[in-house]
Amino acid sequence: MNRDSTTISPWQENIPGFSPDSFAKEDFIYDVIIVGGGITGLTSALLLQKAGKKCLLIEAKNIGFGTTTGTTAHLNTMMDTSYDQIISDFGEESARMVHKITNQAIQLIETHVKEYNIECDFQYKKGYLYAEDDDQAKELDKIYEGSRKVGVDIGYSNEIPLPVPFTKAISFGEQAQFQPAKYIIGIANEFEKLGGIILHNCRVLNRIDGDKVTVETQKGNYKCIDLVYATHLPPGVNLLHFENTPYRSYVITAKLKDGNYPDALVYDMQDPYHYYRTYTEGNEKFLILGGEDHKTGHEENTDKFFRNLEAYLQKYYQVESIVHRWSSQYYEPADGLPYIGHTPGLTNHVYVATGFSGNGMTWGTASSLILFDLLTKGKSEYEPLFKPSRINVKASISEVVKENIDVVGHFVGDWLSVKKIPTLLDIATNDAKVVKYEGKIAAIYKDSQSQIHAVNPACTHLKCSVLWNSSEKSWDCPCHGSRFSFDGEVLVGPARKDLEAINLGVQ
Ligand code: FES
Repeated sequence: MNRDSTTISPWQENIPGFSPDSFAKEDFIYDVIIVGGGITGLTSALLLQKAGKKCLLIEAKNIGFGTTTGTTAHLNTMMDTSYDQIISDFGEESARMVHKITNQAIQLIETHVKEYNIECDFQYKKGYLYAEDDDQAKELDKIYEGSRKVGVDIGYSNEIPLPVPFTKAISFGEQAQFQPAKYIIGIANEFEKLGGIILHNCRVLNRIDGDKVTVETQKGNYKCIDLVYATHLPPGVNLLHFENTPYRSYVITAKLKDGNYPDALVYDMQDPYHYYRTYTEGNEKFLILGGEDHKTGHEENTDKFFRNLEAYLQKYYQVESIVHRWSSQYYEPADGLPYIGHTPGLTNHVYVATGFSGNGMTWGTASSLILFDLLTKGKSEYEPLFKPSRINVKASISEVVKENIDVVGHFVGDWLSVKKIPTLLDIATNDAKVVKYEGKIAAIYKDSQSQIHAVNPACTHLKCSVLWNSSEKSWDCPCHGSRFSFDGEVLVGPARKDLEAINLGVQ
């Protein structure tokens, strides 16, 4: 299964193939068109098709091309935004609702696994969160109190399943893990069996709102009553682009000499935090360690984050071998909760789900439950809490201002700081730079054969300058997270057009 990255996650390997042979009709009015074939789009599509809606799912590449196969597939009710924080910013009732919907999301995955016999290693696991100093211990107490208030099955623990020193720890039930690629292939198959249609390699180029919504794509123009963007950020420009910040996270898998793999999901409290789980392939176990998160397009030498993770792991474990190194992207919402529902500023028939922090598999599934209610009943008890047009003054204003100052800084500063190079010899083989050369500003990659690939660094979304990502060999936009291959092809939006090729007159 292809992914939006050069690095390979274990979920892409040893899986059943999936290639839809669907045909979509241009003279038909679909009830719902879903854009995006990750867990959010596919789960929404399955639920809606099952309820009798005629659905068309459009995917720019292949299902699972985005974050769904780049996640570490922790399924949580203990989210990145802790319950004490949600209570403080949204109130206790809202925090209870977050606990309820995240539990329902995990249960929905379990139901699908059982109902459709999806072999995706779904298992409930205990979770652990541990402090390494007094400040973290105080923070841990707050997290414990907030979680207990909303009903999480939680307690203090004298031990953690890692050989790492700690000062205080909590453990909690209700968490789970699975193999995300096998799971989405399972639900994609069920969606098709029910008559749902999936189009691969079909980028959406434009949308025309009217009596019906028309979606112009690479394969034709399709009409629907309701449209769902399950693509992280929707295309165009709206409030959501200023309220969600793209981040990259790094992951390694390792074979351990002592076989001491944790049978749990484990998290420390560093900033950014490390996260652990174990997965099994055949009869072999592997440890997954993730962390080293940073804003997308803010770091050029991304190989160092894998080295940092490896060094961290080797501090505590006898590592036999490192098996995978991969990175992936997520969006951090301004006020800590995702945006699910009607897309701000657009007709009421266009829906969106985004801002899942590091809990994409759970929030993606929870989104499908909320979107299902909105699209079939016209309302959801969760609508006010996750409404995408909300502005939570207390929780988000300072964050929105800070992030958008950063965006403006990139918009202006990155263009002003471009250095002139007299010769392309200034770029090493296998390296890339945004430079001024022969009077042109160009993003230049020199591949392993010393061949030059030059593109215009202006992101085709809103013209911020892209930055090289050395481990993924991609051009990443610091403003809203669009990513492009080394020769400028869109990997992920919100950009819809490739970076413009530049001819430097060299071979
Ligand atoms: Fe918005 Fe690049 S993603 S400017």
